[in-house]
Amino acid sequence: MQVLGADISDLVFDYLNNKDFVGKEYSYINKEIERVCGCKSFFPSQDQYLLFKEELERTEKFCFSDYRAEYGDFQTNMALAEQVTKHLSAKGVKPEAVIEPTCGKGNFILAALRYFPTIKQIIGIEIYSQYVWQCKINILDYFLSNPQANKPAIQIIRANVFEIDFNMLKKQISNSNILVLGNPPWVTNSMLGALDSTNLPQKTNFKKQKGLDAITGKGNFDIAEYIIISLIKSFETSDGCLSFLVKNSVIKNIIYEQCKNRFHISDLEELNIDCKKEFNVSVDASLFFCTFNSQPALHCQVYDFYNGNALKKFGWVKGGFYSDIQADDSLENIDGKSSMVWRQGIKHDCSNVMEMEREGGLFRNKLNESFELEEDLVFGLLKSSDLKAQVVNNSKKYTIVTQRYVGQKTDHLVNYPKTYKYLQKHIDEFRKRKSTIYQGNPDFSIFGIGDYSFKPYKVAISGLYKTMHFTLIMPQEKPLMVDDTCYFLSFDSLKDAVAVHTLLNTEITRSFLKSITFPDAKRMITKEALMRVDLAKALEFSNRSQLIKEANAVFSTINDKASIKAEDFDFIDKKDVQLELF
Ligand SMILES: C[S@@+](CC[C@H](N)C(=O)[O-])C[C@H]1O[C@@H](n2cnc3c(N)ncnc32)[C@H](O)[C@@H]1O
Repeated sequence: MQVLGADISDLVFDYLNNKDFVGKEYSYINKEIERVCGCKSFFPSQDQYLLFKEELERTEKFCFSDYRAEYGDFQTNMALAEQVTKHLSAKGVKPEAVIEPTCGKGNFILAALRYFPTIKQIIGIEIYSQYVWQCKINILDYFLSNPQANKPAIQIIRANVFEIDFNMLKKQISNSNILVLGNPPWVTNSMLGALDSTNLPQKTNFKKQKGLDAITGKGNFDIAEYIIISLIKSFETSDGCLSFLVKNSVIKNIIYEQCKNRFHISDLEELNIDCKKEFNVSVDASLFFCTFNSQPALHCQVYDFYNGNALKKFGWVKGGFYSDIQADDSLENIDGKSSMVWRQGIKHDCSNVMEMEREGGLFRNKLNESFELEEDLVFGLLKSSDLKAQVVNNSKKYTIVTQRYVGQKTDHLVNYPKTYKYLQKHIDEFRKRKSTIYQGNPDFSIFGIGDYSFKPYKVAISGLYKTMHFTLIMPQEKPLMVDDTCYFLSFDSLKDAVAVHTLLNTEITRSFLKSITFPDAKRMITKEALMRVDLAKALEFSNRSQLIKEANAVFSTINDKASIKAEDFDFIDKKDVQLELF
């Protein structure tokens, strides 16, 4: 049976329908309910009470919308909520006050009532009125079924968590041991933007990303992260702890920012859960735990939530952020700054028009159009999936390189009439590109282009794959380009390219990259991670004769008579840091 969208048990139904309540004001009924279950202001007003009663008499079926994307709605099942509170209780957590900032139907509140007999006060906040009712009804049902249970003062507040002043809330519960518990919404600000939703904090650029980073998505953040950070800021000096189910990426960001924020939190733990089983979604998420009022910790220990096995530790070591802090700290030796600048491949956001295959003397695009182009601006294009081999020297796909450097005027395109005609025909596709980087730039602009793109040899890696494998790219008459899912270094000399390719594929470099990257990130390899590989140090810690052997094996696969000697690696030691122009 449902009332105002909330499920109601027979026990609660009979209780609310009891004869004593007939003709009584809501304030009288509220007092009775508070006496039974500790829940304050069960009915916020007489009108709400009358509405509820009317619905109770009708007991109409209401339906929860199945998927409330805007609210990042993934209710925690009761079994998991109980496992979490049981785990916290076994750890010695004995809260006097519990705050659930987005409490939903209230499973964490009920689990807390069962496992923490020490609680004197509970505050739950939730935006969705059906869940607020459900939560209050569940609490009433719990106390009607367990009349002897410890009865804290309970407030379930219908409110937008972004409008709650947690510092004020803190004053209400001062001097108590606090547990901030829950599972905040699973949604990012860019998803909310796409949904045209306003379920956002007012200051959306809370990470203070500037310029290109904000435009290219680095300013994108999880709402859960904003909520946790707000709570930590308010409660870091209180006694108690926080325990939240959140995406691993949120935990990673909190620990990453901890180097700068130095919040007074410690005992940082990430307990991995199986989201497919618990929420039927394919997301990497965990129970995050931290203790307040302590020396700022910079490491997070990762466990399996179900069996308690320790899996790894991540965080800061000597100023470097590691995804896997090894007992053997030799990898830290190559942590530094690359002497060569890593580049991201070409970005055009117009694959229907800009990606094509050869067909006889013509080209065919993704729109299945066949057309002619002058060869001058056509270059072979490699994508992540093309970087599986050790050496690549041809491509299936081609692209039109409309500029030689970012921001170059595109007037010269008229000199290539067939290419110009083809591009003009599709000008609307280019003008439709959403990313703001194209605004104010010439028509047909591309990004990730510069002198470095036109060097003949490249050493590249996919940002999307977890294999940590570098590919040597040879020219196919002209230099081959890579797309923006890949990162590369480029060279004028084949010997230099082979030397760096060999060094990057050594165990020490790959293990180092593994220790600083997160396999559950959307883009595991980033420019930042690659720039941390100090090639000169990697060379110092590598076995030079082994390097020579491996480099010469590469030469033999490309049928090049050249061979490499020990001194051919020396340039890696000497290279000055190149200036990054874009
Ligand atoms: C991931 S669910 C978890 C619910 C509950 N904490 C649990 O563990 O079952 C997130 C909850 O946040 C609520 N919510 C979303 N945006 C909110 C906001 N701005 N203020 C308060 N609650 C919000 C949703 O309605 C939903 O109930």
